[in-house]
Amino acid sequence: MALKPTVIEAKPFLQTLVGKERPTSPPVWLMRQAGRYLPEYREVRAQAGSFLDLCYNPELAAEVTLQPIRRYGFDAAILFSDILVVPDALGQLVTFQEGEGPKLQRLEKPGDIAKLSQSWMEQRLQPVYETVEILAKALPADVALIGFAGAPWTVATYMIEGGSSRDFHRVKLWAMRDPDSFQDLIDLLVSSTADYLIEQVARGAETLQLFDSWAGIHSEAEFRRWVIAPAKAIVERIRARHGDIPIIGFPRGGGLLLEAYAAETGITAIGLDTTVPPGWAAQVLQPKLPVQGNLDPLALIAGGDVLDRATDEVLGALGHGRFIFNLGHGIDKFTPPEHVERLVDRIRDFRG
Ligand code: CP3
Repeated sequence: MALKPTVIEAKPFLQTLVGKERPTSPPVWLMRQAGRYLPEYREVRAQAGSFLDLCYNPELAAEVTLQPIRRYGFDAAILFSDILVVPDALGQLVTFQEGEGPKLQRLEKPGDIAKLSQSWMEQRLQPVYETVEILAKALPADVALIGFAGAPWTVATYMIEGGSSRDFHRVKLWAMRDPDSFQDLIDLLVSSTADYLIEQVARGAETLQLFDSWAGIHSEAEFRRWVIAPAKAIVERIRARHGDIPIIGFPRGGGLLLEAYAAETGITAIGLDTTVPPGWAAQVLQPKLPVQGNLDPLALIAGGDVLDRATDEVLGALGHGRFIFNLGHGIDKFTPPEHVERLVDRIRDFRG
């Protein structure tokens, strides 16, 4: 599916990414904008059963995707799902326990990678594609639909650590001691993630975001091999099918290697985490590609003057070029919903 020029013009988010002119006040959406800080989300979540049941229920997943759009009028909706539906669809056991985060049956040895299979994926992920279809029809004409997936490295950390990790010893040691079998896992994730994202676009996603939440724990050589190369391979595969689809890369913690990531992966725009100085990004990255970010999610909890000042710093540095306002990481569940309203009002008042 190609993005029509009339659609790009109608949506400030797409205009900023690929349009001829950029809007005067930057478009805004927030990573994890559908979630537990919203009472209406908690209500649907309680009806759904488990978290994965919610991800695989097209009506309810579409409903929670739309909740923050109704409440705040964000410029983009992000499909409600999770990065861990890919390992689930490859046949790994994935569960989410209340208050504990994700638990996966750990991959311990190369033979465990061989047991995974792409052959079940299409069927298992059908409900997610149906959610995309519902959203493509339901969204207001000026709101863009973002599809997403986890990047191979970040997804591999969960698959090998068995959940969230503090030190990433298992996954890093596996990649160091046996890079060939680790490459097999990354290759499987490149292929399955590209197929998954290609299908999201076929069903109506207008932009894709690749979340590499744990990109920032590598030496340079490892960053190039496990972060840049897989992102580049995924972008190439998507472009072969959907030539003009905008893709946002979010290599969290990429630091001094963000420039290489931006130059070498072929992404359309880059997401900045909270630690990236906005002034530096304005000088070094923004002349080359649109940037997205990077308000500290905790400033949004603090609210008041703290929030206003932090917002103005980001807007002042980046708001005069191609820029999408976002957080530097996902919104926290303790965020007061009215602080988000204050943030959106302030962004709407800005003229860049
Ligand atoms: O609103 C949106 O942004 C869309 C939905 C979305 C979720 N997860 C829903 C979710 C997106 C884009 C994600 C991405 C995701 N999931 C990432 C990458 C971004 C990041 O935050 O670093 C990662 C690493 C995951 C894996 C994951 N999912 C973890 C570690 C957890 C537990 C931590 C937590 O916040 O509870 C989840 C659960 C999860 N994914 C929730 C939501 C709304 C909360 C679970 C619940 O409602 O019970």
